[in-house]
Amino acid sequence: MCSVMFLTGLLLFVSCAVVDALDNGLALKPTMGWLHWERFMCNVDCDKNPDNCISERLYMQMADVMVKEGWKEAGYEYVCIDDCWPSHQRDAQGRLQADPKRFPGGIKKLADYIHSKGLKLGIYSDIGKYTCAGYPGSLGYYETDALTFADWGVDLLKFDGCNMDRALVGEAYVNMSKALNTTGRSILYSCEWPLYEWPLRQPNYTAIRETCNHWRNFQDVYDSWSSIKSILDWTASHQDIIVPAAGPGGWNDPDMLVIGNFGLSHDQQESQMALWAIMAAPLLMSNDLRDICPRSKDLLQNRRIIDISQDSLGKQGYRTAKMNGYEVWERPLSQNRLAIAVMNRQEIGGPRQFTIRAAPGWKICYPKCSITQILPQYKDMGIQAPDSNIVVTVNPSGTALLTLTPISSSFERMHKRVWQDISIKDKRNTFL
Ligand code: GLA
Repeated sequence: MCSVMFLTGLLLFVSCAVVDALDNGLALKPTMGWLHWERFMCNVDCDKNPDNCISERLYMQMADVMVKEGWKEAGYEYVCIDDCWPSHQRDAQGRLQADPKRFPGGIKKLADYIHSKGLKLGIYSDIGKYTCAGYPGSLGYYETDALTFADWGVDLLKFDGCNMDRALVGEAYVNMSKALNTTGRSILYSCEWPLYEWPLRQPNYTAIRETCNHWRNFQDVYDSWSSIKSILDWTASHQDIIVPAAGPGGWNDPDMLVIGNFGLSHDQQESQMALWAIMAAPLLMSNDLRDICPRSKDLLQNRRIIDISQDSLGKQGYRTAKMNGYEVWERPLSQNRLAIAVMNRQEIGGPRQFTIRAAPGWKICYPKCSITQILPQYKDMGIQAPDSNIVVTVNPSGTALLTLTPISSSFERMHKRVWQDISIKDKRNTFL
């Protein structure tokens, strides 16, 4: 169904294309929280490494810090367990059970603790017989596991797709979605359906959106700039397929934020934060919140970037230009605003200056708009007109992030006229 509320051609196009989301009332905005995998992986040796092993202590400590250090206030809500939490054996009733040594209180008690902090708990399982790391998967136990998670008070399930015939991946994800729904508990459903189906065929994003609250499309994120770039490149090259699927209730998931770890320079961390906000991606940090440098913390808690991520219009942004070693990405925001990210992909030399005048988003400044630069530093760029030259300085592998806010109602008329009936591809060309 198309809505007349949407003003631009793009939004009209997207709103027509977006199908019904999974009807569980969750993920109306991209999920925010913390997920253990990238930083802590499958470290189960609590004797040697008690502070960094997959144990109830880790999640309790993260929850404590999330409350004390402003993370919860900034919007980060879910504390999520990934692989390697269960015992290798199910219990006598066939239920999954947490490893008793590492989770002596069990998951229900951990969920109570997390809830007592005003946070939510996520857990992990797999569509197949085993998880990717070889722990028991849910195959043959979807109803049992969904009921167990509901009984424990779990709020999110990340359901992995290892160890399964690729032809059966879609059916498996649908079955678990139904099982979760049948429990009557609101459990946010995080899938990896398209990631596991792409090698076989193009996934059905209409069905995925009806089934999952977010879905991984591409490989696991690593703590490296090459990993971030590969995710962005994949996203841009598939944006015509995946962007229309995103919206309130269901989001493309480019994987965790690795900001605050070891592999990204500060400019690269800013690029990840800016682009994850533009992509309307879940903001699931995988880092050690107990020990994070103040600059990374400030970046992850930057309210202006989080506002872009959580914008109520709920449209995913997309790449509109790639030239001279730059990429320009745009995300339409509520109240006819626009976010623009200019990424300097040239990894040689120093800071470079980019003039935004020719950008399509600039047309929305007719007759005038106000511009705010958010990254690399906050700057009120004042009221601008279409013939203004807006110059941003961008470090190698860094990103300048801006928002454009129209300041006249005649904007709407112009915006509508210029943008209606222009496809994403045409808009892309207006840059070149
Ligand atoms: C897969 C997933 C990762 C993580 C690991 C755990 O690789 O894509 O996000 O959950 O499994 O084994």
